[in-house]
Amino acid sequence: MAQPITCVEDLRVLAKRRVPRMFYEYADGGAWSESTYRANEADFRHVYLRQRVAVDMSNRTLATTMVGQPVTMPVALAPVGLTGMQHADGEILAARAAAAAGVAFTLSTMSICSIEDVAENSNAPFWFQLYVMKDREFIDRLIDRAKSAGCAALMLTLDLQIMGQRHKDVKNGLTAPPRLTLANIANIAVRPRWWAGMLGTKRRAFGNIVGHVKGVTDMRALSAWTAEQFDPTLNWDDVKRIRDRWGGKLILKGILDPIDAELAAQTGADAIVVSNHGGRQLDGAMSSIAALPAVARAVGSRIEVLMDGGIRSGQDVIKALAFGAKGVLIGRAYVYGLGAMGEAGVTRALEIIRKELDVTMALCGLRDVRQVNADTLAKPHPQFAA
Ligand code: GLV
Repeated sequence: MAQPITCVEDLRVLAKRRVPRMFYEYADGGAWSESTYRANEADFRHVYLRQRVAVDMSNRTLATTMVGQPVTMPVALAPVGLTGMQHADGEILAARAAAAAGVAFTLSTMSICSIEDVAENSNAPFWFQLYVMKDREFIDRLIDRAKSAGCAALMLTLDLQIMGQRHKDVKNGLTAPPRLTLANIANIAVRPRWWAGMLGTKRRAFGNIVGHVKGVTDMRALSAWTAEQFDPTLNWDDVKRIRDRWGGKLILKGILDPIDAELAAQTGADAIVVSNHGGRQLDGAMSSIAALPAVARAVGSRIEVLMDGGIRSGQDVIKALAFGAKGVLIGRAYVYGLGAMGEAGVTRALEIIRKELDVTMALCGLRDVRQVNADTLAKPHPQFAA
């Protein structure tokens, strides 16, 4: 009998077996030396929780709000490009799993299933993540499409005006759909669940873009396309223009520095996401968990602070909350689940994190996730601190 899946790492191992290498490594990789990618996870291990005992741990709740929306736990699904290449119809499946779990799902601009498709095939309003491209009319139309689809928040990504190089993607010749080279055919052939799913769906290209951007009918390598289309001039005036066109809840993602956090707060946005894009952009940047305390101190009383990067467990979630985040976003943790088992895998990833969060909170002597604060962290003797 197969071993039970008990942690996100189990889902990662299964996803690696089931997802073609180019897509598995697209998710499970970072920029250049991958030092920031690794630090995102590793730095959580230098943070210690405070164990409390003999306090009533009954009647616990993880319910809270994120960007004004009630959620069953302070965890949302992060925007991830090419999610529909991890598993056929991936964005729709992840959106459904998130809705059933009572948490928010964020659809990436670089998704395979389009905004309209996800809206039609899932049953809760989702958040839409926006990249700014040189074709501003296209961007305006994307914003309007997200509005018409009833998206509950717009998440504007600020840390990818230029794409960081991920060696694995270059080596794998990442494209969506994959080019049928001999190496790719050999790799895909031994992953029958994946290709059977892909043969059964029409959703195999960047749904928000193909057919919507003038002159773009065929998407080549993601990196070449983004290098051509993404707007390197993006600045705070653009942010304000986008805020005004959107008119709804606005989340600014990719803030790592307290000065940028201050500028973000001045735009009147509703939330920021402390993020280094999962270590996929500025290699050598600080891990998100290391950057979070200074940002939360600088702006936490004026704007909601969320974070992502390296979250693989409920313990990580509590540590982020203790450092001042109102909630977190998970990317790879759910993508592994999706690649491993489709919708059920996303559900499993969320269940694992929920259980870990609940039990960890209890063992810290707390019954309500909204009580987590700086006192939830232990202050080890300096000799043992990171
Ligand atoms: C795009 O969002 C990427 O990080 O690949």
